Amino acid sequence: MEKIGLVKEPSFENRICFLPKELKRLTQEFDLDFFVEFGFGDDLDIPDTDFEKVGAKILTRETILNESDYILSINDLSDTVVDEKHNTRIGIFNMFYYPERIEKFLNKNTTVYSLDLLPRTTLAQSMDVLSSMASLAGYKAVLKATSYYNGAIPMFTTAAGTLNPAKVLVLGAGVAGLQAIATAKRLGAIVEAFDVRKSAGEEVRSLGAKFVEVEGAQDAKDAGGYAVAQTEQYLKRQKEVIHNRIQNADIVICTANIPGKKAPLLVEKTAIEAMKPGSVIVDMAAEQGGNCEMSRAGQILQHNQVTIIGDSNLSRGVPQAASQLLSTNYYNFLKYVLHATKDGDVLLEKSKVIDKGILTNPVLINKLELA
Ligand code: NAI
Repeated sequence: MEKIGLVKEPSFENRICFLPKELKRLTQEFDLDFFVEFGFGDDLDIPDTDFEKVGAKILTRETILNESDYILSINDLSDTVVDEKHNTRIGIFNMFYYPERIEKFLNKNTTVYSLDLLPRTTLAQSMDVLSSMASLAGYKAVLKATSYYNGAIPMFTTAAGTLNPAKVLVLGAGVAGLQAIATAKRLGAIVEAFDVRKSAGEEVRSLGAKFVEVEGAQDAKDAGGYAVAQTEQYLKRQKEVIHNRIQNADIVICTANIPGKKAPLLVEKTAIEAMKPGSVIVDMAAEQGGNCEMSRAGQILQHNQVTIIGDSNLSRGVPQAASQLLSTNYYNFLKYVLHATKDGDVLLEKSKVIDKGILTNPVLINKLELA
């Protein structure tokens, strides 16, 4: 009988990766023991008894780490390197950007699945933690920006006169950017967006926003739907266009990223200084170096009366919704792994590293075997 361990996340985390509902579903489908640490659901007001009712055993962290075959978490858990027993870690480790999170498992009896490396295939869609979190984060980025913005978002026509709608500029129209556009449109803003991927233009326009194109972007056809790093020349041209657009923007939402790389710098200090007083920038790429020169991860700063919010973890602003999506993603992934293991399947092959660090697997999944 496989043993699955759920241990508490570090103190900065308020989401959890598995809920009682999915725990119940999985134990109905497989012969499993679930071990849950005391207080695992505290941040979401889920009592231990809710996990017990669906068959889990509530145990100490130490016991769970020593006894489990699979240890599930969202973040890297610094105390979880266990030498003796073979175990499998499943989490979102962003390991290309933080290789040390994985290196510590080298030569240990451990298999690591970092779910941020799942390929964006149809089969893996229901396990796609990045899309789940990016959607919520894009939504939350707009709400957060509006709470710092000193004006109103929609057009107001009143007896005292008319207020123009706010202008929102979205940099990067991937999963988060598109959700930010949709949210800003719903609130009544005028929205325009940039992306290096030409294909994003159609999606931006279908949401009723304007797509601002900068000619000459590098072709990204082999990057699995992702963007690739652009030339210095292109980035210079792009910064100039952004500089022009930003002067009219009330809110700027930065979401541009390149997997495993430093985020492209798109908003320079001079562009911030050209913005109107009272405007707001939310930089969701802050943790990977930032799209905005002055943003700092986890900080809210002011420069020239412009508020600059650096936050790459905005899904923590909606922890209940985020945990619900994560729990479904983890359930789908685990179900797949358990099926493959049970059937002696060879689906979980070693991953192949192709082209600039994007991991893909011809079958389904990226597995980093470090044992
Ligand atoms: P991401 O978080 O890595 O990047 C966000 C956005 O920033 C991307 O749209 C990217 O093109 C853009 N970007 C990068 N450099 C830029 C620059 N210099 N200027 C402006 N924009 C820049 O990407 P995300 O949102 O995780 O996904 C990107 C794409 O992957 C999606 O739009 C979609 O095409 C594909 N995808 C496919 C899925 C599937 O088939 N299951 C699921 C999710 C995404």
